[in-house]
Amino acid sequence: MQILLTGATGHLGTHITNQAIKQNIENFSIGVRNINKVSDTWKQALEVRELDYFNQESMVTAFKNIDLVIFIPSIIHPSYNRLPEVENLVYAAKIANVNHIMFIGYYADQYNNPFHMSPYFGYAERLLASSGLNYTYVRMAMYMDPLVDYLPELAELGKLIYPVGDGKINYISRHDIAKGIIAILSNQNLLGQRYLLSGHTYSMTELASILSNVAGSKINYDPVSLDTFGKMYDEPKGFGPLLASMYKAASMGLLEQHSSDFEKLTGDQPETFEHFLQQNY
Ligand SMILES: NC(=O)c1ccc[n+]([C@@H]2O[C@H](COP(=O)([O-])OP(=O)(O)OC[C@H]3O[C@@H](n4cnc5c(N)ncnc54)[C@H](OP(=O)(O)O)[C@@H]3O)[C@@H](O)[C@H]2O)c1
Repeated sequence: MQILLTGATGHLGTHITNQAIKQNIENFSIGVRNINKVSDTWKQALEVRELDYFNQESMVTAFKNIDLVIFIPSIIHPSYNRLPEVENLVYAAKIANVNHIMFIGYYADQYNNPFHMSPYFGYAERLLASSGLNYTYVRMAMYMDPLVDYLPELAELGKLIYPVGDGKINYISRHDIAKGIIAILSNQNLLGQRYLLSGHTYSMTELASILSNVAGSKINYDPVSLDTFGKMYDEPKGFGPLLASMYKAASMGLLEQHSSDFEKLTGDQPETFEHFLQQNY
């Protein structure tokens, strides 16, 4: 089976590509927007194709002789602007006779989820379901990784300010998400299902305590309002309210979701937040 991963030069794609090379996943190639971002090591190990999610023909060409496309969406927002990516994915997959799509989605996608990107994920999954194509839908929980860079700011502030109230959030590392995806690629009988790659669930008080231990200074949970949070992180414009909408979902209990899919797929436990930060901070 010929496999093509899109978004390979991004945060998650880099983890998946490195693990695919390490695990000797057969016939694994990558589709990238900017070939200059691809290291010589990767060029020696993999076939690299060029594609742009907003250029249908580039996707048709990149998908030639590919059986399975693993699609990592971009991070553009709002939802409406991202819709053409998945439309072009389905169009190109049909023209190029791709047999199967693995779509990498996000867990903030319930029908009542206020996250501003939720409409995109709802649309993408329904488009795949109605496309006639074979597909695997992988939802992921929230990344642990950005907290590594954010921790110095929080330590300076002495506060964790996420506007989540008593809500809890399930976190997983990008490394573990990639590990779950590689496990599916390693046993193709696992294709065709809907998965949630989740890790451990924390209240913000628990998270603040972990952050304090790792930073070596006291960080209390002291939430700001959704509006304040949105204004604090509104760079680029619109990103602050988008982030705030995600924390609103958490305050509603919508990001506590957990499944045992990671354990079932990999036979391992996902990394805890404390261990992840100790290794990476
Ligand atoms: N779980 C979480 O907490 C979390 C957090 C943030 C985002 N996400 C989700 O994760 C996915 C993105 O993954 P990421 O974290 O790896 O983000 P990322 O680092 O921005 O990676 C996105 C990838 O998509 C590629 N891309 C963007 N526009 C493209 C286009 N027009 N044509 C072809 N390729 C294009 C980028 O290419 P370049 O390398 O050339 O830029 C990059 O490789 C998104 O679906 C996002 O919703 C999840």
